Amino acid sequence: MAQNYSNQVVVVTGASAGIGAALAGEVSRRGAQVVLAARRQEQLQAVAGGLKGESLCVQTDVTDKAQVQRLFSRAVERFGRVDVWVNNAGRGISRSLEELGDTDLDTMVRDNVKPALFGMQAVLPHFRARGTGTLANVSSMLGRMPFAPFRCAYSASKAALDSLTENARLEYAKSLPKVRWVVVYPGVVYTDFGNNALFGGPDSRSIPGGQTAEEVARVVADGLLEGPLDLYTRPEAVEGVLEYVRRGAQRP
Ligand SMILES: NC(=O)c1ccc[n+]([C@@H]2O[C@H](COP(=O)([O-])OP(=O)(O)OC[C@H]3O[C@@H](n4cnc5c(N)ncnc54)[C@H](OP(=O)(O)O)[C@@H]3O)[C@@H](O)[C@H]2O)c1
Repeated sequence: MAQNYSNQVVVVTGASAGIGAALAGEVSRRGAQVVLAARRQEQLQAVAGGLKGESLCVQTDVTDKAQVQRLFSRAVERFGRVDVWVNNAGRGISRSLEELGDTDLDTMVRDNVKPALFGMQAVLPHFRARGTGTLANVSSMLGRMPFAPFRCAYSASKAALDSLTENARLEYAKSLPKVRWVVVYPGVVYTDFGNNALFGGPDSRSIPGGQTAEEVARVVADGLLEGPLDLYTRPEAVEGVLEYVRRGAQRP
């Protein structure tokens, strides 16, 4: 049976489009009160307009720590608490290793790592006070294994995000045993991710074998509240990662 979200207050960043918008819709249909965050207010309002339950839009640039803190405060003001916080906003980059400029890696850290850290720091005291909560960071299969050479800086930023989350599990395992630190690992998803990447495409929709944002949202909604903390949106993808690690370990 599908995981129920009634009585869950869920914050989703990057909710104006793609995976975030689909996730906002999915948890709303399952009963959640949803707080949607992104920079484009009109798109946020359009997504919120299609939701079933109560929602709040908070225009937020997640690269700005003060704005992320404000997002948290607005969520609590409106709904009294946060049960689930999903750091989903992110951006790709299309450059090979030798093409990378001196600030490109910094940009990837700015867009893909620090916003998640800001979200984790904003919500952690609240989870500590309540003794419970779910924090999810949307990573990528590319954080687990290199796959597309021109995505090296993106891959590296998602690997940093994975490590940050895994360390949080360790740091708070004893003091906050009921706080879940989830990493979501999508493969290719048919959104505007490719089009929005720094230095342009390819369009994610042109890559064979991808998933729709709605499919990803269903898997994520099913797995956020219980089950494995590493959430592969294609369960069979785990085998690919294990095989990659095994081969690496066997290389002379
Ligand atoms: N699509 C894929 O193939 C794929 C695969 C693996 C992982 N992912 C990850 O999945 C997540 C969602 O990507 P997507 O595919 O849905 O991409 P998308 O269609 O480009 O959507 C990105 C979302 O992030 C928001 N965003 C970007 N920068 C932001 C900022 N500074 N502040 C606030 N919001 C910001 C955008 O909203 P605004 O522009 O309105 O701010 C938009 O809502 C990302 O973390 C991405 O790395 C995607």
